[in-house]
Amino acid sequence: PFPLYRELREDSPVLFDDAQEVWHVFRYDDVQRVLSDHAVFSSRMRAGREPDQNHLFASSLISTDPPRHRQLRSLVSEAFTPRAVAALEPRISEIVDELLDRVAGTGSMDLIDDFAYPLPVIVIAELMGIPAEDRDRFKRWSDIVVSQTREYESSPVRASAQQEMAEYFFAMIERRRRDPGEDLISRLLAAQVDGEHLSVIELLGFCALLLVAGNETTTNLLGNAVLTFAEWPGTIERLRAESGALPSAIEEVLRFRSPVQSMFRVTTEDTTLGAASLPAGSRLAAWIGSANRDGRQFPDPETFAPDRRPNRHLAFGQGIHFCLGAPLARLEARVALSALLARLPGLSLAPGAPLERIDSTIIFGPRALPVQWQPT
Ligand code: HEM
Repeated sequence: PFPLYRELREDSPVLFDDAQEVWHVFRYDDVQRVLSDHAVFSSRMRAGREPDQNHLFASSLISTDPPRHRQLRSLVSEAFTPRAVAALEPRISEIVDELLDRVAGTGSMDLIDDFAYPLPVIVIAELMGIPAEDRDRFKRWSDIVVSQTREYESSPVRASAQQEMAEYFFAMIERRRRDPGEDLISRLLAAQVDGEHLSVIELLGFCALLLVAGNETTTNLLGNAVLTFAEWPGTIERLRAESGALPSAIEEVLRFRSPVQSMFRVTTEDTTLGAASLPAGSRLAAWIGSANRDGRQFPDPETFAPDRRPNRHLAFGQGIHFCLGAPLARLEARVALSALLARLPGLSLAPGAPLERIDSTIIFGPRALPVQWQPT
C-alpha cells in the first residue's frame, strides 16, 4: 500500500469515499490529531450506522470515550505497567525456547505458523488464566473476529464464533467468581469503580478485546520484523553482534511496517481537517501506516533505519487510547527476536517462496514466512 499512501498524502491528504461514507486521513499531523483529540474524534465508532451494535467490543475500552474510558482503563492498566509486564519475561523466554526447541534441528519453518502465531496466544492465555487445552479454540475465534472487522456486514460464521467465545468467557467468569486466582480475570472481577464492579458485558468485552488486540498484532510485528531484517542487507548480522541495537530496530519495524494500518473514529461536532470540512457524525479512517511514512515527520521515510532517532511513530496509537499492551508487545518482540538470532545461525528467507500479505486493510503482515538456517 505504501506507494499509494505516498500519492494520497501529497494529492488528497483528507479524502472522502462516497461509497463507504468514510473520510480517509493520510498525513502524520492529521492522523495524530484524529487519534489524540478524543473530544472531537470519538471512538464509539460502532454507534450509528454499524449494523452489529451488540458487537462484543461495543462496551470495551477501545470503543468508549471519557469518562467511562478513564474508569475502565484504570481498572486494567495496573496489570499492564512496564513493571508488571517485565515480571513475565522469564516465562516468555521459556515459551520461546520451547517453540524453538521443536524446530531448531530441522533447519526450516514457517515463521508465522510455527512461531509468531503461537507465542502471543500462549502468553495472553496464561495471563488470563486460560487452560492450555483451550488455546486452539481461542486462536480460531480470534482469527475469525479479526478477519471480519474489515467488512461492515456481519457473517453467520463470525456471529457464531462470537457467540461461542462469549459463552466460553461467560463460563470462565462464573468459575473465577466462585474460585478466584491470581489471573487477570480474577483481578478484574474484584476491581471496583466508585463502589461498582464491572458488568458481565464489560468483562466479556474486555476479554475479547485482549484476545483480539493482543494476538494478531504481535504475530505480525514478529513476521514484519523478520521479513524486514532479512530484506535489508547486513541487519541480521549487525543485530546478532550488538544485542543493544534490537529495541530501536523493533521500533523502526513498527514504523516501517505497522501491524495496525488504520483506526476508526467518528466526529462528535463539525470540524476541519486540513482543507476539508467534516460535519458532525463523520466516520474516519486514520491511516497510521501512511502517517508513519510521512516525510514531513521522518527523514528518508522509505528507508528502514534501525537506529532512527527520534522515532515518534504512531504504531501504538496516541493519547488516551494508546495501546495498553505496548510494553508487553515490545517485551515479547525483544525476547522472541533475540532468541531467533541467537539460536538460528544463518537465518534467512527461504528462496523462491512467494510473499503473500494477510487479506485485510487494517492488519498488516505476511500470511506465511518460510525461513531457513543451518540446523543445530
Ligand atoms: C490499543 C496497536 C499489541 C491491547 C491499541 C491501539 C493501537 C494498537 C494502534 C490504539 C487504538 C485506538 O487509538 O483506537 C497494537 C500493536 C500491537 C499491539 C501494533 C503489537 C505490536 C497489544 C497487546 C495487547 C494490546 C499485546 C494486550 C495484551 C490493547 C488494548 C487497547 C489497544 C486493550 C485499547 C486501549 C484503550 O482504548 O485505552 N493497540 N497493539 N495491544 N491495545 Fe494494542
